[in-house]
Parts: sequence; C-alpha cells; structure tokens
Amino acid sequence: MSDDAERTDETTPVAGTRSKSERGALALRSTVREHVAEHLYLRPQLEAMLGDANWCVDSVEWDGDELEIRGWAITPPDAYAPATFTLDGRPFDEIDYPRARADIGELFWFRPGARYSGFVCRTTAADRGSWPRGFATIDFADRRSLAPFAPLRSFHLIDPDADALPIPEEARRTRVHGNDDVTSFLAQGASAFVKLERALEKSAAKSFDDLRSVLDWGCGCGRVSRYFARHPNLALTGIDIDASNVDWCRTNLPFARFETCQVDPPTGLESSSFDLLFGISVMTHLSEADREAWLGELARLARPGATALLTTQGASALCRSNADADRVARWRQVGMIDVGVSVAASDLSPEPDRYIDCFLTPDYIRDRWSNEFEVVDLLEGYIGNAQDLVVLRRLD
Ligand SMILES: C[S@@+](CC[C@H](N)C(=O)[O-])C[C@H]1O[C@@H](n2cnc3c(N)ncnc32)[C@H](O)[C@@H]1O
Repeated sequence: MSDDAERTDETTPVAGTRSKSERGALALRSTVREHVAEHLYLRPQLEAMLGDANWCVDSVEWDGDELEIRGWAITPPDAYAPATFTLDGRPFDEIDYPRARADIGELFWFRPGARYSGFVCRTTAADRGSWPRGFATIDFADRRSLAPFAPLRSFHLIDPDADALPIPEEARRTRVHGNDDVTSFLAQGASAFVKLERALEKSAAKSFDDLRSVLDWGCGCGRVSRYFARHPNLALTGIDIDASNVDWCRTNLPFARFETCQVDPPTGLESSSFDLLFGISVMTHLSEADREAWLGELARLARPGATALLTTQGASALCRSNADADRVARWRQVGMIDVGVSVAASDLSPEPDRYIDCFLTPDYIRDRWSNEFEVVDLLEGYIGNAQDLVVLRRLD
C-alpha cells in the first residue's frame, strides 16, 4: 500500500472500526515516520548550514599571568586532524579537549561529536603588555600545522590591565548579552571590535585610525563602544532606545557621545555625518518594516562611500535555534522569517511587541538592502561565530 493510500485510510470512517490498539499502533507509526522524515531531511541541511569549525569561548579567568579559557569547539565535518587552541599562534600550555558538553550535544544534535566538544585551556601570558592595543587572538586550529580551522572565526581577548573602564552591572550586561558572565561580555565585545576593524580593512582598505566619526547603532551598555577609547582621534556616537543604558554609557564612557533614540526613526543626528556605522544584534530584532525604515535612516546618516556593518541571523544562527524542518524550509523559500517576540523583549524595548527575532538569507539581503547601499560582502557566522556580518557601502 502506498503512503498516500495509508494516510487516506486513517482518515476514513473505516479507521473507526479498528480496535484501540490498532489505532494506537497506526498513530505511533505515523509519528515515527514524521520524525524519521524530519531527521532525514533536516539533519543534512543543518549540518551543511553549520559549515566550518564552530566554537565559542564561554569564560576567561586570569590569575596573575595565568590565563584559563573554557568553552566548546566542534571540528569541521571533514577534519580528521587533531585539534589545538592557540594564543597569537602559540599553542596553549595545557589543553583538556574534548570534554563532555551535554548542552552542546543537544543544541547541535545533528553534528556527531558535539556532545564531546568542551575544552579547558591554560597558558602563561606574561607578554600580554605587548599585545597590540591590548588584544590577543585565540584560534581553534589544526594541531600539526597550527593553521586555524576557520580563520574568520577567531576570538579576541583584552589584556585586563589595559581596560580600566567601569564594567556595567549584571542586569545591564544580561540585557544585551543574554547571560551575566562578565568575562564573556568582555571577550565577545573585544572580539566584535577587532572583527569589525578586520571587516573594514578587508572591504574598504581602512582601519579605525582612518575614520573621523563612527556610529554604534543600538550601543546597549557599550559592550563594543568601550574599546573605541583606544582611538581618541575618532568621534564615536552611540544611540539606543534603552535610555537607562544610554545614561550608563554617558557617565562611564566619557570619551564618546551617547543619545537615546526612539523606536521609529528618524534620529536627531545630522545627515551625512558618519564614515562608519555599525549595529551588532539590532537588525536581528526588527520586523521587515522596521528594518527598512532604519536602513533608510542609516543611509541618511552615512557619508557617500561610508561603510555600514550590520549583523543578521543567517544559517549559522538558525541551526543553533532548535529550528524544525518547517522553519528551515520557510527561511529558504521566503528568504526571511520572523519567529515572534524575543525572550528579552520586555526588558529591552519600550514597545516589546516590536522586539522580535528574525532570520534572513544572504539572497534576501542582497535583494532588499541594495537601494541606497551596495552589499559589498556578507561574512557568515562571523560575529560571535554565530551572526552574519553584512558589509554595506553607501552609494554616492
Ligand atoms: C542584543 S542588544 C546588543 C547591544 C549592543 N549592540 C551589543 O553588542 O552589546 C540589542 C540592542 O539594540 C537596541 N535596539 C533595539 N531596537 C533599536 C532601535 N530601533 N534603535 C536603536 N537601538 C535599538 C536594544 O535596546 C539593545 O540595546
């Protein structure tokens, strides 16, 4: 009997003549069949969407010159090479990897090995006073060649002695960062800061030192803004709808200017006044209408030729969101999905219903974001090794 015939059978009155145990067996068979089909269809798609090696530093501890990092790391699917972790190209002194990580195994159920992806690495970093601008690069690498498995997926640490700025209180950090670990707040902020400059260098052959004015759109409590203190010749403006975090930034990051903005543009900022505009994890929370309205505002604020760096949630973020087959299929077909109000909405927005989570495909972005900007590049799974970075150039 074909699948269709069987399914019709279950919905006809004939099914009603079956015994209770027969009906139970049929229902179970149908559920199992759906699960198998979903796994057969979904598993290879998620596997491909996760792509290269993926990893994350969850915490960073310093004891004098002794550094310890903890996190998880999944090797590329085709890599049989033993793995290591490097600090500015030098392997850590002690590497305990792989370790059990049941939570990561559950999240990436489709990738063999995820359940044993934990690591703890220790090394002495007595030379940290000489890290350029106070930052070091950590890579997840092939143990024989020391080449990073995924060069764009680096993490960056700040020398704690080179960052004397106040740290926001736990509630503020949790609001923008999703957890209260201060060391990961600093590492994620430092990593985003370094990677934004690398993206600017790659796409526009410029460093932060070449810029006059920069906008941090949706600056929160300054997780990324704080590192611009290293560039006193550049004027940084941070804006956010969260008035309390803007006040915190004003008081504690006095090297920059911070303003509260409304949920709807325009802002009161001057037209054509920035040569770099960036928004980390902001577009990821807006509806299509709000994304387009804010893109228009960013275009107004950008100087001709300016770069805008905006993160979005693409394949890499979707495959760590417990997406089912239906969600993945809709994302592919439509190019974008809004999946409802974000868990953090009530803490974050004066209009919580408008603080959503959305996922966009590269094709959708190239198609929809090309009116006043040119889409120069799209770096998948780049910021936090989870969000995509869209590189835009303001058209003249
Ligand atoms: C996930 S947090 C990220 C904060 C910061 N970019 C960071 O990386 O730490 C998102 C931020 O965007 C802000 N936000 C949301 N919608 C906004 C809008 N339309 N304009 C400006 N900021 C907005 C929120 O208040 C929040 O601070």
